[in-house]
Amino acid sequence: MAVELVKTTERTYPIYLEQDFSRLPKAMEEAGLTGRTVCIITDSNVDGLYGAQVQEALAPVSKKVHKIFFPAGEMQKNLGSIRHFYEAFFQAGLDRKSVIVALGGGVTGDMAGFAAATFLRGIAFVQIPTTLLAQVDSSVGGKVGVDFDGHKNAVGAFYQPHFVYINAKTLRTLPKREFSAGMAEVIKYGPIWDMDFFSQLEEKKEALLALEEETLLSVIGRCCAIKAEVVGQDEKESGLREILNFGHTIGHAIETASRFSLLHGECVGLGMIAIGSLCEKRGTVEQGFTKRLSQLLEAFSLPLTVSGLTVEEIDRQMAFDKKVKNGAIGFVLLSSAGVPLRTTCVTEEERKEAIAFVLAQ
Ligand code: NAD
Ligand code: GLY
Repeated sequence: MAVELVKTTERTYPIYLEQDFSRLPKAMEEAGLTGRTVCIITDSNVDGLYGAQVQEALAPVSKKVHKIFFPAGEMQKNLGSIRHFYEAFFQAGLDRKSVIVALGGGVTGDMAGFAAATFLRGIAFVQIPTTLLAQVDSSVGGKVGVDFDGHKNAVGAFYQPHFVYINAKTLRTLPKREFSAGMAEVIKYGPIWDMDFFSQLEEKKEALLALEEETLLSVIGRCCAIKAEVVGQDEKESGLREILNFGHTIGHAIETASRFSLLHGECVGLGMIAIGSLCEKRGTVEQGFTKRLSQLLEAFSLPLTVSGLTVEEIDRQMAFDKKVKNGAIGFVLLSSAGVPLRTTCVTEEERKEAIAFVLAQ
């Protein structure tokens, strides 16, 4: 069942929300991708869990299905891995009609998408996200790329998949910490778009933690709908799409400064708390907003503070962010809860106080 259509200049593509891989051949057919040479890219963890199943599901509708995997983890998200992929593509005889299938979390999707965008100047690709973060955010919208010399996502492109196929049952094998990290990106959609959705998350937190099927599907579906709407309005992030970076300016800086010892989603959670405190101080959100946000993040075992880092380290790191334009750092604040405000008008004092808010004493 296609729950959502993402409308972009390259194409309009569906997001399928499923409970197994059985409709994958049909999805390939609907995308006009049958009879091709396919190369699945996955990581060392996901390969053992789902690699064979996906390879089997694709075989009847493909000319040949190759599979390559890389060692799991953000540390592998670099040009060295992309080089290995290109070598494997040539060995497998991939051509301009071939299809890359990204099977895994955001690291896999971002790298496989970047390889697909650049190999032979661009070949078709498909996203099969298996982490919550990838299902609600990274697999939709075509941001692909790698880290470079410690700079997050510094080299990349906008390159849309032909479709996104979510098998929500894959979340059953996801480590709890990874599920929680994904919940930070889920929670993000509340303050920037839909506070009713935020309230629903508060009400349904036990059901979500228990991976209760119906709740999970409706939450993933709502996130995909919001993301599709935002990407449809601003594919290349010239304006509106920046709101999806809520919590990311400070979050990315913490992620890099912590040398990736914290997960992306955990850092986004910290970044959202920091910005919540800034907005509360400005009076644009009600008193207690940050506490409410923190309580929901805490319900999913997300960290509320970070230790071992200084305000200066994190602040310095922000200067390297992609969100810096003409020397000014871009922030997503809230003009009220549920209404984002994109701005570069944040004083150094406000910035540093916000960072200090999430540093452990
Ligand atoms: P990830 O891809 O590293 O996956 C996290 C871990 O979970 C890995 O160890 C992986 O092997 C494992 N895993 C994946 N699926 C599993 C499953 N079903 N069962 C068991 N284990 C499983 O990380 P992530 O959190 O999915 O993604 C983070 C990355 O996404 C970052 O690099 C971030 O920059 C990027 N990102 C991109 C966008 C975008 O728009 N492109 C948006 C947000 C984040
Ligand atoms: N995750 C932010 C974006 O896709 O724009």
